[in-house]
Amino acid sequence: MSRLKQKWVQFGAACAAVVMLAGCGSGAGGNADKQVSESDPMPLYKRNCMSCHGGSLQGSSGPNLQKIGSALTKDQLIETIRDGKGRMPSFGKRLKPEEIDKLATWLAEKK
Ligand code: HEC
Repeated sequence: MSRLKQKWVQFGAACAAVVMLAGCGSGAGGNADKQVSESDPMPLYKRNCMSCHGGSLQGSSGPNLQKIGSALTKDQLIETIRDGKGRMPSFGKRLKPEEIDKLATWLAEKK
């Protein structure tokens, strides 16, 4: 009985630790996201593009972008993102020019 009780206490403590970690984690993650977004295009991509182009650029409702750098130049990428194309929405009003530039620079390297 006492052993069982101890197990439950341990279980409870483990849960609390997990919740605390998760809580801390998401808080720190928020900050990390902000810091990282200075240089890393991934948060931008995830927020704006992933729903149509997939988590690893593999494509979904939008085309695969894994080799887009060999199809389009950085300038063409900027144009596509800024003005849209076909069913691709334009991001000229939603993203800052430097954010579009960052995404285009990153995608231009996907060869
Ligand atoms: C609502 C869905 C959707 C979202 C969101 C979206 N795209 Fe697209 N994207 C498309 C579709 C559909 C096409 C194909 C357009 C066409 O050729 O008619 C496309 C095409 C493209 C192309 C050109 C591909 C080619 O082969 O010519 C690039 C580059 C691109 N998207 C990048 C992005 C980036 C970067 C973002 C985020 C800022 C983004 N897309 C967000 C749907 C989307």
